[in-house]
Amino acid sequence: MQWWIFALILISIYCILIVILRWSFPEKHLNWESINLEKLEFPSEFMWGVATASHQIEGNNKNNWSEFESNKKLELSGIACDHWNRWESDFDLIENLGTGHYRFSIEWSRIQPKEEEWSDESLEQYSQMVEDLISRNIEPMITLHHFSHPIWFQEKGGFEVESNINYWITFCEKVFSKLGQRVKWWCTINEPTVFTAMGYVLGEFPPGARSFKKTRAVSRNLMIAHARCYRALKKMKGGEQANIGLVKNINIFDPYRRWNLLHWIQSKILDEMFNKCWLRGLKTGKFRTPSSLFSSKIPGLKGSSDFIGVNYYTHLLATPFMPTTVEIDPLIRPWEERTDFRYPMYAEGLRRSFEMVKNLNLPIIVTENGVADDDDDMRPEHIRRHLWITSKAIKDGFDIRGFYHWSLMDNFEWAEGYTQRFGLYHVDFESQDRTLKESGKLYSKVIEENTIPQVVILAGGLATRLGKIAEDKPKSLIEVNGKPMLNHILDWAESQGCRKALVLTGHLGNKFENFKHRGISLTFHQESEPLGTGGALWNAKELLDEEFILLWGDDYHPINYSSIVKHHRQNNSLLTMTVTESHDSMNLRHSDGKVVAYNKIDQESNFNGYEAGTSIIKKSLLYDYGKDGKWSWEETIYPKQSGEITAYIDNTKFWDMGTPERLSKLEKFFQNS
Ligand code: BGC
Repeated sequence: MQWWIFALILISIYCILIVILRWSFPEKHLNWESINLEKLEFPSEFMWGVATASHQIEGNNKNNWSEFESNKKLELSGIACDHWNRWESDFDLIENLGTGHYRFSIEWSRIQPKEEEWSDESLEQYSQMVEDLISRNIEPMITLHHFSHPIWFQEKGGFEVESNINYWITFCEKVFSKLGQRVKWWCTINEPTVFTAMGYVLGEFPPGARSFKKTRAVSRNLMIAHARCYRALKKMKGGEQANIGLVKNINIFDPYRRWNLLHWIQSKILDEMFNKCWLRGLKTGKFRTPSSLFSSKIPGLKGSSDFIGVNYYTHLLATPFMPTTVEIDPLIRPWEERTDFRYPMYAEGLRRSFEMVKNLNLPIIVTENGVADDDDDMRPEHIRRHLWITSKAIKDGFDIRGFYHWSLMDNFEWAEGYTQRFGLYHVDFESQDRTLKESGKLYSKVIEENTIPQVVILAGGLATRLGKIAEDKPKSLIEVNGKPMLNHILDWAESQGCRKALVLTGHLGNKFENFKHRGISLTFHQESEPLGTGGALWNAKELLDEEFILLWGDDYHPINYSSIVKHHRQNNSLLTMTVTESHDSMNLRHSDGKVVAYNKIDQESNFNGYEAGTSIIKKSLLYDYGKDGKWSWEETIYPKQSGEITAYIDNTKFWDMGTPERLSKLEKFFQNS
């Protein structure tokens, strides 16, 4: 064969290969200008959170990291955000954001500073922190290993030595036995790939090694540790109910030149070592460590995650000559914007991360996403884009349960020290002042717009028609099928994603003293004398949110809150009322989506609906009509607003317990459901 024919064949094969690669693995870039980033939709039970890690915020930790910082003459973590002393006020910050979830890590070196020494005091503090978060209705998510561990453990070889895993498991069990029955969300190991790549390939994290042999050992041991931890905790009290998962950092690798086969090969190798081999390991239970040729089974690894935590930050453009030091800027596309960390903002990669973890068939939680951006001019857009991607992916069928922004506040960014600021709150490390950034306000606003508003329950009414059982008790406290009516109402509200309720107890507030409900944070408000429904609301005006759901304490109305809230907001209404058309009596007339007449006492002949308990109200409406003294909300507002009230038609059966017959019907309903 003539040489040029041979060359031609080779070139053709090359071209075909490149075309196939380009076609099979597109590097998605969206035209962000043409996308309406305001258009977001999240399920009402979506977990909105913020994340931190112990060594990055607590201060004065003595662990593998603090040692590495001094040995390598890095910036010292020092007192960091002094969070160990300021945790209570830091939890105010979380509360102010409105996030119902908080991911943080437990510092092993505080719990077990020496091999033979355990600190009950530290464990007790973490326990108080958990208690405090729960009391604020912030669901804790605990990470058991987030890059840091005790010095004694490192001296024994850390995760390089398989038998050392026993130490970590003992620590995990100790923590779980204290907190396992209260904390529902657990992450075993944060980013095993980053821990090994940075600590054993690039040498940027402790122990600063550069050895493929060690990388293989540590990778394998981390997977063993994860699997063993999962199995051990599941066996403990509270383990069955706990959601335990691995947190995987997904880095997207793309070839720098999409016509260059070498760039393709490099990107595929990196993708395999950084992402695929780990995910495959989790899926099949057989793990091929990065850079090794064969896989081997890890007992208990298959099925060892109840969810997959995805930490996503960026994509990297691969060439065979990529820098192995962070000092050199990574390559980016010309239209991309560099973050302070020098890698680009690439929100499209979050979607690709979801696609990558999808075949694990596990619920996905974005356990970290955020950006280093000192002056906060990029973060708002970063948040908007990544939330848009998440919202769209949910719409397209991905099972994504939550989003934790990294990070609550600026903190110690490992090898980069304090130069990289990831927080929603700015931290002045001199004065330790925290200030909410514009991006923090934005995140908070998105959460508010996508969560179910405050529930306000008129719970003070007495049950005059119920006779003896209700002589000295508000109706909402009467037991139905083993628990007070108020509990049933709150259970439903919680199932709909409500996080806080204001209970207006009428003048018998002391009757509610021992009332508790886990899952919704409760505020009680009492009147000095009976004020009627309108008076009760006016009396509590300072405690009302701008928009709230109003419920009656003696009605059980299991409707979908998301739909009514959506309807209310779409119509931009002041008052949206649920109207049922299947009730034995009628008390209103509705037409063209509005309630046009209401009469509680006399049913008029053209009435075609009944007010079924759940309504949504803008506080400004209360201010339009509010007055001191006793007055009825429904009898004052409904007639005055007729024609303006949005009718939300829903024929879900609605239960009230006003008479003994109705009460027993409700009792039967609960028994059967
Ligand atoms: C780590 C965090 C770190 C963040 C930003 C993640 O990989 O889990 O600890 O601060 O990236 O670089």
